[in-house]
Formats: sequence, structure tokens, C-alpha cells
Amino acid sequence: MMKVPQCHRSYYSQKSPAFISLILLLLPIFSPDLFSPLSRSYPSLFSEWNAPQPRHMRLLQGALQCKTPIRQQLELWSPLPHQGWKSCHDSKNTPLPEKSGGYIQVFLDGGLNQQRMGICDAVAVAKILNATLVIPHLEVNTVWQDASSFTEVFDLDHFINSLSDEISIVTELPVEYSWSTREYYATGIRETRVKTAPVHASAEWYLENVLPVLLRYGVAAISPFSHRLAFDNLPKSIQQLRCKVNFEALLFVPHIRELGDTLVSRLRSSGEFSQQREKYVVLHLRFDKDMAAHSACDFGGGRAEKLALAKYRQVIWQGRVMKTQFSNEELRNQGRCPLTPEEIGLLLSALGFTNNTRLYLASHKVYGGEARISTLRKLFPRIEDKRSLATADERGKVEGKASLLAAVDYYVSMHSDIFISASPGNMHNAMLGHRAYQNLKTIRPNMALLGQLFLNESISWPDFQNAVAAAHKNRQGQIRVRKEQQSIYTYPVPDCMCQT
Ligand SMILES: *[C@@H]1O[C@H](CO)[C@@H](O)[C@H](O)[C@H]1NC(C)=O
Ligand SMILES: *[C@@H]1O[C@H](CO)[C@@H](O)[C@H](O)[C@H]1NC(C)=O
Ligand SMILES: *[C@@H]1O[C@H](CO)[C@@H](O)[C@H](O)[C@H]1NC(C)=O
Repeated sequence: MMKVPQCHRSYYSQKSPAFISLILLLLPIFSPDLFSPLSRSYPSLFSEWNAPQPRHMRLLQGALQCKTPIRQQLELWSPLPHQGWKSCHDSKNTPLPEKSGGYIQVFLDGGLNQQRMGICDAVAVAKILNATLVIPHLEVNTVWQDASSFTEVFDLDHFINSLSDEISIVTELPVEYSWSTREYYATGIRETRVKTAPVHASAEWYLENVLPVLLRYGVAAISPFSHRLAFDNLPKSIQQLRCKVNFEALLFVPHIRELGDTLVSRLRSSGEFSQQREKYVVLHLRFDKDMAAHSACDFGGGRAEKLALAKYRQVIWQGRVMKTQFSNEELRNQGRCPLTPEEIGLLLSALGFTNNTRLYLASHKVYGGEARISTLRKLFPRIEDKRSLATADERGKVEGKASLLAAVDYYVSMHSDIFISASPGNMHNAMLGHRAYQNLKTIRPNMALLGQLFLNESISWPDFQNAVAAAHKNRQGQIRVRKEQQSIYTYPVPDCMCQT
């Protein structure tokens, strides 16, 4: 007979050394069934490292066997109360200029979410200069390798129409400027290229440095442009325009929205014969090899994993990423290690998600593949993703295109009841902002606290659960006012929204 682990703090005093050793004795019985890789995709892993074992066995048993109180479940899934803020953009504050001051071109690096911010900033800069914006050019990212253009990702007509009272946007330059192409700028020093925009440049910087180019040549190409417009000291009307672009003017192309709707309706459906609308949570499990290597933390894959990550660092960054001077323990204590799928599973359980939860995995690739996800799947058998929810045929137009796949995940994430990301990154920030704009729940893991809890090898499940629940009570989408230098796209209050 299996002894159940203590599930509530009140049992805590009953804990005895004998109880602990019983659990330890039972561990091997648990493991074979629990952690055999579920998938067909694992053989290639073993060339690199051994399948990682769960590292937090005590907690895992607690999570698997303890029931979540109903009250905690209800609280978790209840929508946020109205918090007193709403969007308040008025296009009359930024009317179309009588005469265009010329054409602004930008070339945008980065992944989808970074490019998105670049598009919003480009609209703002064109507005500051009373210029006409040429649809931004999306560069091919070296990591993601997707050559999709603006019009292949975003709904062009909606973009132009929803901003037409405020700014003129053209899909291409008029014939007399058709020489002003990416190739033209790539092959020589050109007078019309603005190369020197500092990071977080002010409106004045653009008026002083770009306006003269516009007036003289009629066109200015700003590159690099990512992160080249400040978040502070801009007129409120410009800030609101940036948010309007991000949260309202940028829709994905119809086929992405359709696929997104298909996924959402399958997540929400509770079976052929039931009308009940299910709730679902999106987990952005950002645990790819790139990230694992970058963090320099130990993820339990042993020596082979360490070597593999070190080799990856060498090849990809050629020593540009400094070897950290911190130990694995110090990094964890500071909350600087991405949570593993196992750890995020324990976090979700402690927050009150039950094994009946619909969980959508929004992720590109998981380092370690199915072997690493199996522990998470054990806790949450109803994990879904694009592949499990849609047929290859339905995914045909987006398959193999990182930006379009990311767009689908963005769409499904925006429609979820709850969004949580395993590590603060671009996607996390994008969702934090966009969902705040719509007053939707977004859980922000307290990385430092979690790092410390996971370092404590003797922590009991009830203690872990209580600590996690308490620390995340106010990290579920409660409005946070933007601080200086923070992004308005992550914290749209107060710049982009008004108190009601
Ligand atoms: C979910 O957990 C309960 C115990 O809390 C257990 O009885 C049940 O079998 C689990 N369901 C699945 C699908 O694992
Ligand atoms: C842009 O137009 C507005 C109103 O039409 C005007 O007040 C402002 O000075 C213009 N700015 C530039 C840089 O031309
Ligand atoms: C680890 O957890 C145990 C039991 O939950 C607790 O008593 C102890 O104070 C914790 N240790 C640290 C270093 O936090």
C-alpha cells in the first residue's frame, strides 16, 4: 500500500524521519512508470545527453496526490475585476497633416514580437515628422529564419484603414523614389540612410536629425530602427497612437486568425455532446536550447548536457557570451534560470491548476523534447498544442514559418482565460501589455522566489504550495503602472489608458 504524502500544513507536525525514509524507499517504485519517455521522438536526444530525471521528487508526489481546494480553483479561474482603466485614444488628437513631409522607411530586425514594437514606433516617428510611412520591411532573423513579409503576417487593409485618420501609409514608394531599396542601402554609403539613431532616441532627435534628410531628399531610411524611440517624454497623443497600433491596428492575416479560431474552439469544446465552454490556460514554455545555453544554469542533464550547452555557446556565440562568474546555486537564488518544464508544472499545480486543466503549450521548441515534457504531461495530461489540435492540412500555410507559428500562438494566447510564461522574455512582455489593455489574467512567475524554493531539497508540498500561492496572489494581472524607461507596450498604464 502506498502512503499518501502530507497534503496540508496541518499534517506537517506528523512528519517524522520514519515517514521521510518511507517516501525515499518508495521513490524507485514511482519512477519507472512515472518517467518513461512517452514519445516517439526521443532517440536523437540520447546522442547528446541522458533523459533528464525529475529533480524535485518530493514536490512531484505532493503535486500528483494532493487535491487543490475548490476555493483556490475558483479564485484562480475567475476573471479579473474591472480595475478602473480603459483605452482612451482619440484620433482627433493626432489628425492627418495637411501635407506629407516625405517618406519614412524602416527595416526591422528580431522576432515577431520585436518587429511588432518596431512597427508601432515607426508609425509614431512618421507621425512626429508628419511623414508618410512605407510599410515596414521585416528582416529575416538569423535564429528564426522566416522570410515572411509584413503583408504575409499582418492584415494590411485593416492596418492602413484603422490609422487612416491619423497617418498616411503606403505599401511602396512612388516611382520617383523607387531607387530607395534595401539593396541600395546594403551596397554603399547613402545620404538618405539614417544609421545613427541612438537607442531610445527622443522626438527632438528625430526632428533634428531625420527631418532635414526628409526635407532635402523626400525620403529617409532609418536602419537600424529596433528600440530607437524613447518610452519617456513623448506627447500623450503619440504614446496613445503607439498603443493603438499595437493593440488595435495590428491584426494577423485572416488565415492565421482562422487557424487560431479553430484551435481556440477546440480548446473550448468539452466534447461532441456538450455545450459547456471549457476554460484554458496558455503556457509559454520558453525552454529552447538557445535559452538554456544562454542562462548557463544546470538543468540536471548531467555532464553530457553541460558539455553540449558549452559547445553550443562556443559555436553560436563564439565566446561572445561571457562565462558567468556565478554558480548554478547563485543563479537560481537570483531567479536567473529559466524554469524547466518540470518546475513550471509544479508551479502550476501549486497555483491551483488541477490535472483536469486544459493547457495549451505555446512554444517553438523544447530543449530535450518529449523526454523533458513528460513530467509536465504527467501533471497535466490534457496538454495541447498546434499539432495535437489541428491537422497537418489545417497547419499547411504556417508550417515551417517561425513568424506565422508565433502569430498563431499569439492569437491563441490572447484568447485564453489565463496566460503564463515560464520566463520573462519578449512574448511574456507582449502578452503582459496586450492582456493588461484588455484586462485579462496574466500570471507573472516570481523567478527569484521559485529559484529559492526549488533549491530547498527538504521543502514539503504544503509549504511549497503556500509559499507559491501567497507570492503570486498579486501577480495575476493586477495593473502595474509603468516606471520610467519601461516599455509602454508592456505597461500601457498610464500613458495609453485613462482612468474611468
Ligand atoms: C487526477 O487526480 C486525481 C487525484 O487528485 C486522480 O484521482 C485522477 O486519476 C487524476 N486524473 C488523471 C487523468 O490523471
Ligand atoms: C506637423 O503638423 C502639425 C499640424 O499640422 C504641426 O503643428 C507640426 O509643427 C508639424 N510638425 C512638423 C515636424 O512638420
Ligand atoms: C526548506 O524547507 C523546510 C521545510 O519546508 C523549511 O523548514 C526550511 O526553513 C527551508 N529552508 C530554507 C533554507 O529555506
